[in-house]
Amino acid sequence: MKIVILGVGGRLGAALLREYRDKFDVTGFNHTQLDLSDLGAVREKLRSTSFDVLINVAGFTKVDLCETQPDRAFLINAEASLVVAEICDEKNARLIHFSTDYVFDGEKREPYTEEDEASPISIYGESKLAGEKNVLAAQNQNLVVRVSWVFGPDRPSFIDAMVQQAQENHEVDAVADKFSTPTYTLDIAEMLPRFFGSDAPGGILHFANAGQCSWQEYAQWAVDCCHDAGLPLKTKTIGARRLRDMANWVARRPVYSVLSTAKYTMLTGVSPRTWREAVSDYITRFYSKK
Ligand SMILES: NC(=O)c1ccc[n+]([C@@H]2O[C@H](COP(=O)([O-])OP(=O)(O)OC[C@H]3O[C@@H](n4cnc5c(N)ncnc54)[C@H](OP(=O)(O)O)[C@@H]3O)[C@@H](O)[C@H]2O)c1
Repeated sequence: MKIVILGVGGRLGAALLREYRDKFDVTGFNHTQLDLSDLGAVREKLRSTSFDVLINVAGFTKVDLCETQPDRAFLINAEASLVVAEICDEKNARLIHFSTDYVFDGEKREPYTEEDEASPISIYGESKLAGEKNVLAAQNQNLVVRVSWVFGPDRPSFIDAMVQQAQENHEVDAVADKFSTPTYTLDIAEMLPRFFGSDAPGGILHFANAGQCSWQEYAQWAVDCCHDAGLPLKTKTIGARRLRDMANWVARRPVYSVLSTAKYTMLTGVSPRTWREAVSDYITRFYSKK
């Protein structure tokens, strides 16, 4: 099976490329090798590449920057997705496109299902939702995978910032009134091949590790795991901050964006492991050695 991955310079793309390299015939393109804002180049490069499955994890993911550069956000996250989908359709290839919990407004207080109406409150969320619609309109067997709070070894994210702050400071705070679920890139890489086959279901699929937490609980667990692993940290307890005190944020973020993984479990018969297990695994594997 020939697989193309767009966005291999990023957190998820780099993890997918590494995990699939020995199992599949994989070609990866990073930002420099294929710029999604150049639609002509996207057409040319993908038309001349042979593949059965295309995984698109590239995107304009800087949530605050999207607010001030909406045209660029829509070009990369929505228009380019349509071009990619059209080429996959021409080639009769399967398209797996990644999206985000930020397509929801965060007003719910129980996990969002694939049937819940998306109603983004940021340009990033709007552009990602437009990309989803383009992908699903092009070919109804295409798959849109929504994930939340992605972390992993290939690019630092919130968890790494928290560990670094806890190494350097005696007092560290994190937002205590915003809730979702961390999703480990290696767990995404493990689950995704279940959807590679041409007869696999299309549509929208939510995937995250199991459970839910605030950023404060997430950071606290990471710090606890570091202490258990014998890593020297100055901070033991993560303090609480309120969302409304995040003055430097430009974009609005959903307060609650937990994704229900019931559909994933129904389709595969498998439940994702808990976010605590995933974080513990990450800290043990990638921090204990540092
Ligand atoms: N990170 C999260 O918490 C999170 C949460 C929910 C959903 N997601 C979704 O999951 C997917 C993967 O996210 P991630 O965490 O791996 O993000 P990431 O680390 O920011 O990776 C995105 C990649 O896209 C590349 N890119 C940006 N503009 C591009 C362009 N014009 N042409 C080609 N490539 C371009 C980036 O390159 P540069 O670095 O050079 O710009 C980067 O390598 C995305 O679809 C994202 O929306 C992420």
